[in-house]
Amino acid sequence: MLEEFSGEVRGALARTTQTLKNNQFKKPSIEAVSLVANALKLNKISLYLNYNKALSNPEQSAISKLLTRRLNHEPLEYLTGQVNFMGLDFIIEPPVLIPRPETEVLVETLVEVARDKKNPIIFDIGTGCGIIGIASLKFLPSARVYASDIIDPRLARRNAIKQGVSERISFLRGDLLTPFSGEADFIVSNPPYIPSSEIPFLQPEIKFFESHTALDGGEDGLFFIRELIRTSGAKLKKTGMLLLEISPEQANTIKKEALKHFESVDFIKDFFGRTRVFLAKYPKFIKS
Ligand SMILES: C[S@@+](CC[C@H](N)C(=O)[O-])C[C@H]1O[C@@H](n2cnc3c(N)ncnc32)[C@H](O)[C@@H]1O
Repeated sequence: MLEEFSGEVRGALARTTQTLKNNQFKKPSIEAVSLVANALKLNKISLYLNYNKALSNPEQSAISKLLTRRLNHEPLEYLTGQVNFMGLDFIIEPPVLIPRPETEVLVETLVEVARDKKNPIIFDIGTGCGIIGIASLKFLPSARVYASDIIDPRLARRNAIKQGVSERISFLRGDLLTPFSGEADFIVSNPPYIPSSEIPFLQPEIKFFESHTALDGGEDGLFFIRELIRTSGAKLKKTGMLLLEISPEQANTIKKEALKHFESVDFIKDFFGRTRVFLAKYPKFIKS
């Protein structure tokens, strides 16, 4: 049972930090600021401006409740309802996948290759909370995005409104490329790519709170990647490109598979020098 957070804001911050530290959380002071600010419905600057403010009983118990959830390894982003991606603030809710920094490399690559194209059409498969499609639109002013997911894309729709791009993005629901008609210049996806057998060994924040539909890539992790490589030629323009986030150790298998369906393939590394993005050009599929 956690002690109630009596006293002032600064006392609550100190005790939250100490409790997180005692429980081996890696960034106790940063997390404490987020938790206390969120419990008090303040932004971080206002929190510091209210450093000496006395806490009411409901405020104390709000802090205590959030800390208890965090000690139970619920991700901080689900507790605050917010996540930052490429400098943009997105709404996040369980169990939708929390965007990862690696995915910024995928969006940066897409923006780079699409920059000189007029009115590019982008299909974003497995959009989750919408970050890939929405962030791309912020950097590609003439682009149009069609974003899909097997789950209801309502969170992505809310994020598109929040980011002011809802007029340039349409949401579809269904399996991989099946809900799409027409052809894209770019098909982009961060599909589930973790081998099923690895899921039980993921950290509690991931395996107990994020949707396994967003993580589980089947026996070798490549189920969705293979499907997208096999089927995207039919939905790409002749000069179109497929871009996927991958796990570094999957690169060789993916390359072999992709060369059956595309003339040219390439890989881009992330900030740690690990192969993270797969790019394929010139689909071999001949349209009738
Ligand atoms: C790794 S998450 C990526 C989410 C988001 N695009 C991102 O990068 O943060 C994979 C997404 O694919 C979706 N998904 C899983 N199976 C799918 C399928 N058969 N068709 C379409 N989307 C699928 C999941 O619901 C999840 O939102």
